[in-house]
Amino acid sequence: MRIDVVSLFPEFIAQCAAVGVVGRARERGLLTLQAWNPRDHAEGNYRRVDDRPFGGGPGMVMLIDPLRAAIQAARAADPRPARVIYMSPQGRPLTQARVRELAARERMILLCGRYEGVDERLLQAEVDEELSIGDYVLSGGELAAAVVVDAVARLQDGVLNDAESATQDSFGDDGLLDCPHYTRPVEHALGKVPDVLLSGNHAEIAKWRRQQALGRTWRRRPDLLDASALGKADRRLLEAYRAGDPASGTDD
Ligand code: ADE
Repeated sequence: MRIDVVSLFPEFIAQCAAVGVVGRARERGLLTLQAWNPRDHAEGNYRRVDDRPFGGGPGMVMLIDPLRAAIQAARAADPRPARVIYMSPQGRPLTQARVRELAARERMILLCGRYEGVDERLLQAEVDEELSIGDYVLSGGELAAAVVVDAVARLQDGVLNDAESATQDSFGDDGLLDCPHYTRPVEHALGKVPDVLLSGNHAEIAKWRRQQALGRTWRRRPDLLDASALGKADRRLLEAYRAGDPASGTDD
């Protein structure tokens, strides 16, 4: 997959893309990432990329032409058509389902705004979709773009090792939060590892994990839990959790 990021801070994008899972995806040739700076496409000695808003008010608005030229340069870098996505708190909320859809695309261009915003005409002409990473305001789209790059990169085939498998994550295929995890030592001043995880009984362990995932989702994010969509076995596990069944553990 190829991702182009249009940003006034290309070094930020380069740093995020150099490390961790995203860095590995690039090393393995599974992700191509390139940043494009609108300032490189700005005119004049000052290479202006913004101006004051018509109608008055605080802050600056990003100019059409440098952004448009940067988007066009990014488009031209690869013959495959690209979806252009503007990172913005006005966008559609990003979910794991949307991440899965984006991860299946061959390429996209992420547009990062700064200042008070971007001239609306540029958005109308060049942008296919606006995406928000949450109901809060960042000072620019770069952090949001880095979130999209990471979430999408880790779903590319061959990026994660077996041990990191994406299917068991929170919001994996079942849409539930993840269960708790433990490692050595068994006994610690902060508590003991639940017995079932030490039992070697794989069926019981799987059941406990499922119950914890259901219980956590119910406690922390009931909005994710459409109880009616649960099968009979899941409903039973959740009922036992809610009833404070000792087997459901003391989590949360
Ligand atoms: N840019 C500024 N705030 C943002 C947000 N919450 N999501 C995506 N892009 C943004």
